Formats: sequence, structure tokens, C-alpha cells
Amino acid sequence: MYQLRPLLLFSLGFLVTAVRGDNSADSKNAIPDVNFDLEGEHAGELPSPWEGPSHCVSGDHCLYSNPEGNDHNGQVLITTSNYAYFTATFPKITSETQISPDSFHLAPIPGKGNGFVAGRLIKKGEVIMQRQPSFLVHADAHIDMKPEVQEKIYQIALSKLSKDAQEKFLSQFGDGVRAKIDKNSFRIVIDPSGDKESGHLGVFVDVSGFNHDCRPNVHYRITNTTHTTVAVRDIHPGDELTISYIYGIARRSTRQKELQDWGFECTCSQCTLNSLETAASDARVKEIKRLEEEIEDKMSRRGEDIKPEMGGKLVDMYLEEKLFAYLAPTYVRAALIYSMFGNEAKAKEYAEEAVDALTREYGTHAKDIQSMRELAADVKGHWSWGIKVVSEEKEQKTWKLGQGKGKKNETGEAGAKKERKIREKIGKKAGKTVKEAKAKKDEL
Ligand SMILES: *[C@@H]1O[C@H](CO)[C@@H](O)[C@H](O)[C@H]1NC(C)=O
Ligand SMILES: *[C@@H]1O[C@H](CO)[C@@H](O)[C@H](O)[C@H]1NC(C)=O
Repeated sequence: MYQLRPLLLFSLGFLVTAVRGDNSADSKNAIPDVNFDLEGEHAGELPSPWEGPSHCVSGDHCLYSNPEGNDHNGQVLITTSNYAYFTATFPKITSETQISPDSFHLAPIPGKGNGFVAGRLIKKGEVIMQRQPSFLVHADAHIDMKPEVQEKIYQIALSKLSKDAQEKFLSQFGDGVRAKIDKNSFRIVIDPSGDKESGHLGVFVDVSGFNHDCRPNVHYRITNTTHTTVAVRDIHPGDELTISYIYGIARRSTRQKELQDWGFECTCSQCTLNSLETAASDARVKEIKRLEEEIEDKMSRRGEDIKPEMGGKLVDMYLEEKLFAYLAPTYVRAALIYSMFGNEAKAKEYAEEAVDALTREYGTHAKDIQSMRELAADVKGHWSWGIKVVSEEKEQKTWKLGQGKGKKNETGEAGAKKERKIREKIGKKAGKTVKEAKAKKDEL
């Protein structure tokens, strides 16, 4: 992979001027094994086969390694004892089975270096690969370490990976180990509570075979430290497998700017549409955002004037715009709105799509999967069924639930509570993807 992976670099933008150590060999001596402090809460407690802490530098940052990780290609961490402990004890993600590695292969792609190409029909929803980071470094350490010390500890860390993993690491874009991390890493928040202090940079050497496309056929997500890629539509033999390095629901000029910030020209099919098609695409993106905001806004005002078709229209626009990697929140919202308006067939259809899309985009543990399963299995028994969102004046009295059999009508407080619940839920879904992306940007 010879291109940047900018999505993950946002935290590093200010590093550009950081002094870089020279790669030269005048400092062949290994870094002295610093007398590291064993007071870290979990020092020395990592479960086998984890090794370390060994080399400790700048504060509490030490080297840890797991020779058996990534199918014996090894994993190295440069981090604090606490984060090492977190990483070493994350539950194994066993629920998804990746496809056999001979289903796709690396091949030269015109203008892009190498990329993955499907060797057979890969069906929508198939898990392409799941990997642990080969090389994971605490962002603070990557930023703060003295360049010459860093160069050395990075070399030592790299030497603990298998030959194959080392070769893959070194074949990535970037001049020197540090630059390769800058240009190819994914940002990973280790602390499950989301504490930003726990931001790490992870390099997944096998993942570097995915080139960028603004309308990718593969979605990726990182759960704890596991990187999972899933096909979001059928991929035919000979087609390239792509992921998006940026948030794709944006106008072409915005997407190109974001990619340029990281030094590369967007030449994907969506960026090279003719001017008519580009105008149509940009207009659709604008309308998608407008409609999402409208739904969110109406939901926040008690759902007045919401129309059931709004949910379906959004889904159609997402599909037309080929936003196959971002469908889950849209399907969830459409299913709930149709259920709310008592359209059983549509609610069921979208709930079924939602279950699949949630599984692809967020994994089998996704929060809303259970609720969408229940909705698909028994629309009329679902809490959202037939809720008429009413105007404020009537709210107290006319809360009407249930055209379904055996449904109680709920009035007063219980009803109002349910109404709040559905409003929050749909309102949130409506803005979720956009908000998530904005939040990500705000983190910079
Ligand atoms: C991620 O790690 C946390 C903490 O170990 C754990 O509670 C959670 O279940 C993990 N998530 C998944 C999907 O395994
Ligand atoms: C709800 O049920 C009560 C009796 O339990 C009935 O008086 C009332 O009209 C019903 N409300 C609606 C909106 O159906």
C-alpha cells in the first residue's frame, strides 16, 4: 500500500514539524536497558505469552511483545503498563469468522501500487479479515520521545515481529519507521471508557493492502484493538477491495481537500465522475444531510410533521449515492418511523435490513441488533408500533399506543416516557453518522 491513510492521522497533524531522528547506524548500540520502574499497576502481570516490560523510555513507556499474536507474526506494544494490561487482556473476538485468505490476493492496481483483488465472489456481509495491531504505540510516546531514542526502540520493537511482518511493515509508504507509523496507523482508544489519554497508533500490516475509495466495497471497524473488515456489497472476482480513509458523506471538494491534506490526489471512481454526475452526487449528499437534520429537528419537537416516507427516502438516497458502508443508522431510523406510523410491511423490511447492516458495520455485539430483531419478528409487538407522536398540547391525553392485538393503550406518564424514548432514538439515529464524524474531527 503506497498511499496515505489519513483518517487515522488526524491526531498527528501537528507533528509535521517534529524533529525526526536520522535512520543512520551511528547509534548501533542498543538503548541501555533503563532501570524501569515496576510500580506500574500491572507491571509483570501480563498473561503468557506476553513478554515485557523490557526497554523503558520516557516516563512509564515500555516495550511489550507477544510472539504468538497475529498468527505467530507477532505483536509489539510501546505503552504504559496499564494500557499494556488492557491490551493483553481484551476478550478475544471469536464471533466472526474471516474468509479464507485465498479468496483475495495482492496485485498491481494501475496508479495505486498494489491492492487486494477478489479471487472469487465475496458476498455482502462476509468478514474479510480480523487482525490485531502488529505495532501499537501510545500516541504520547510517539509524539514526545526523543528522536534518537525513538528510532532505536522502534527498531528493537520491529525486530520482534516475524520476518514476513517486518517486510510488510517496511514496504508501507513513508520514510523510516516513524513516518510509516504517521502515514499508515489507525488511531485506537484503548480505554473502553473512551478516555482520550489512551489514544494509541496501531499499524496493521495486512490491512495496508486496502486502497482508498470514497464509495468503498469494504467497511472497517476497530473494536478494542481488533481491526475487522467486512464486505458491504457483493464483490466480483477481479474487483479491487477498497476501504475509505475519510468520512465519505461529503461533497467531492471536501473529500478531495481532506485527502490532499495528507498528500494524495483522490482518483477513485466517485472523485472522477464527470461534472454532471458530480453535481448530482454533491446535491444528493446535501439533500441527505438536510433531510437528516429535518428529521432530527422534528423529532426534537415532538415529531410533529414527520412523514413516514422520510425514512424510506433517506434509505433510497443512501443507496443511490452508494453509501453502502454507512447504512445501519439509516435502516434503523426508517424501521422505527414506519413502525411508529403503523406500516407493518415496511417496518419489517427495514428492520431486517437494519440487523444485517448493524452486523456489518458495528459487529455482532451492536447495541440495536436485538431491538431490530424483535421488531422484524413481531412488528406489532414492538414498543415503537403505532406510536403516534402528537402535538404538545395534546400530549398528556392522546397518547395512543397499539393497533396491535393485546396492546394496552397507555396514557399519561407511561405514554409520555415511551414517546420520549422513541423521539430520542429516532432523533439520534438521524444525526448519528454526521455527528460521529463531526465528533471525530473535533477531537483533532
Ligand atoms: C472490549 O473490551 C472490554 C474490556 O475488556 C470488554 O468489556 C468488551 O466486551 C470488549 N468488547 C468486545 C466486543 O469484545
Ligand atoms: C384508553 O383506555 C381507556 C380505558 O382503559 C379508555 O377510556 C380510553 O379512551 C383509551 N384511550 C385511547 C386513546 O384509546
